[in-house]
Amino acid sequence: MVSFSVLATAVLAVVPCAFTAPNGLTTLINHETVGKQLQARQGGYYSFWSEGGGSFNCNQQGGGKYTCNWSGQKGGGFVAGTGFKPGGSRAVKYSGTYDAKGPGYLALYGWTRNPLIEYYIIESYDILAPGEPWTKKGNFTFEEGTYELYTSQRVNKPSIEGTRTFTQFWSVRTEKRVGGTITTSKHYDAWSKAGMRLGGHDYMILCTEGFSNGTLLPSGTSSITVS
Ligand SMILES: *[C@@H]1O[C@H](CO)[C@@H](O)[C@H](O)[C@H]1NC(C)=O
Ligand SMILES: *[C@@H]1O[C@H](CO)[C@@H](O)[C@H](O)[C@H]1NC(C)=O
Ligand SMILES: *[C@@H]1O[C@H](CO)[C@@H](O)[C@H](O)[C@H]1NC(C)=O
Repeated sequence: MVSFSVLATAVLAVVPCAFTAPNGLTTLINHETVGKQLQARQGGYYSFWSEGGGSFNCNQQGGGKYTCNWSGQKGGGFVAGTGFKPGGSRAVKYSGTYDAKGPGYLALYGWTRNPLIEYYIIESYDILAPGEPWTKKGNFTFEEGTYELYTSQRVNKPSIEGTRTFTQFWSVRTEKRVGGTITTSKHYDAWSKAGMRLGGHDYMILCTEGFSNGTLLPSGTSSITVS
């Protein structure tokens, strides 16, 4: 998640809040709580959280499918998706549609603990506009495609363990696609070779994320099924 300033109480409603600049964030969202609430209610691992102003409508449809439509305001953002808990080595097959404008990603998104790492395997996007500078760590090509690798650092930012300082790992596909198979272990291996060490897997989802980077606003629709 790129910037989080606010709360997680009402997941299915967008809660208005004061805009906090992306790099001056204060309170945290407990994504884990959000995921669990929805998991208990609807079955399957589903996570959806949002912050700030905008209209973010995401719904779990069952059978690994979710749909979103969104139109963000300055300071607003969201991440939603279906997937697995725990995450880890899997061939994640997904299909659907993703039509986005502005900053955001369609990505396989996950967390590990010890060390605390937030990671993305980005399949498609309109504008990347990362919140922190990315350090390039190389690239790798295998039968599923070519991905460029990056890391970035988040300092005192919300995480699944509360406000923490942690590293983000990124695989960014050079040829965007919407649909296919992501063999996560290939990315984990490539990251390991680049000195990017993961911890123990928490959840991972095939997410739709949209956020405002302070200038540009996100909007779009997605309908994604993970099998
Ligand atoms: C966006 O999602 C909401 C809630 O699911 C729905 O009522 C609305 O029709 C959707 N709008 C578009 C443009 O898809
Ligand atoms: C991948 O890395 C090689 C070696 O550093 C470089 O020549 C090539 O341009 C890179 N390709 C991409 C797509 O980044
Ligand atoms: C948002 O992203 C755009 C495109 O990368 C960039 O031109 C703009 O400066 C960014 N805004 C901020 C506040 O970083």
